[in-house]
Amino acid sequence: MTRRTALQGFGAAAIAGLSTGASPVLSGTSLQSIAGERQMLFGAAVSAAHLRDPAFRDAVIREVGALTAEIEMKWSYVQPEAGMFDFADADIVANFAQAHQKRLHGHTLLWHRSVPQWAVDDWRAKPEWRLVEAFVGAMMTRYHGVESWDVVNEPMGVGERSGALRSSVYLDAFGPGYVAKAFHTARRHAPAAILCLNEFGLEYDTPEHSQKREGLLRLLKDLRRDEVPIDAVGIQAHLDLASQPAFNPDLFADFLNALGSMGFQVRISELDVKEADLQLPLEERDRRVAEAASRFLQVALANKAVGSVTCWGLSDKYSWLDETRANRGLPLDERFQPKLFRQAIAEALSWRGVPASTSGNKDN
Ligand code: XIL
Repeated sequence: MTRRTALQGFGAAAIAGLSTGASPVLSGTSLQSIAGERQMLFGAAVSAAHLRDPAFRDAVIREVGALTAEIEMKWSYVQPEAGMFDFADADIVANFAQAHQKRLHGHTLLWHRSVPQWAVDDWRAKPEWRLVEAFVGAMMTRYHGVESWDVVNEPMGVGERSGALRSSVYLDAFGPGYVAKAFHTARRHAPAAILCLNEFGLEYDTPEHSQKREGLLRLLKDLRRDEVPIDAVGIQAHLDLASQPAFNPDLFADFLNALGSMGFQVRISELDVKEADLQLPLEERDRRVAEAASRFLQVALANKAVGSVTCWGLSDKYSWLDETRANRGLPLDERFQPKLFRQAIAEALSWRGVPASTSGNKDN
């Protein structure tokens, strides 16, 4: 079977299977085992508070190969006041990862939404990079076992500014060169780490997403030209049924190809699905969520530059999607039972190719 026919087969089989609510395939095999057979990682964002729940811990231990701290490594969390660092909660996540032999992805060094107020105030008077330098250095030194870091998170603009850098406290203080500067700073502190730029709003066929894809590719090209040390691009993939944007597989595949041909590794870094209609029967809701994930993943995983899939959470019990926790946008339900979304991930990972040891078919 050629790769293309394999993928077409995947699309039809997956969606047919999902729509009939077939029993979850591979439910006895963890998502990380399936991913691992394809030299991939399956990850989830977790938070220190949620790790206190034994059922959640068990689910994470069972399913996941890599952890991302949902909030605990962000600057305003670690350094709420000038001159003091509080690593207690970040340590909980890091120690849990270490105790259970999970990898840890560092998230996130520069993010406009996590700059502590004291730094914002300081920079109004006098922009000083040494504050960034101190935070980046502290994090990368303490968590030196972290293999990959989001160095700059969400640098691109929104709305009419989607093709350009967003206006932010970083842009105001340091100008557009702050992105390159951040990667050079990170590289000095972690010579061997995989340094990532992480962004949202890249997957749909809307003018805003198109502009952002194009703008990001332009930015990345400039960074490459200037030999800025950046290794990977994170595509957050907060999928959205609510505003019903169109997903065009060819457009998204072209974008992934462009990233791959520039030599970037690609991470699907924050996958979840925001639901549109919470009044529908549960089965239909779960089917729609899984189908959206399935359509997205079959394109993403067809590209060999994509090396990992991380969900932004694991269970609907702990999801940032809405405060009431009504959204069913993660692979496990609120009682940690697998849903069709989990099946969609398992199938997408499986269809990525049968391990060489069992298939002997390199084209698959
Ligand atoms: C979110 C967390 O999930 C929330 O708990 C927190 O209050 C705000 O940040 N993109 C990102 C993540 O890169 O860091 C965000 O996480 C979700 C959007």
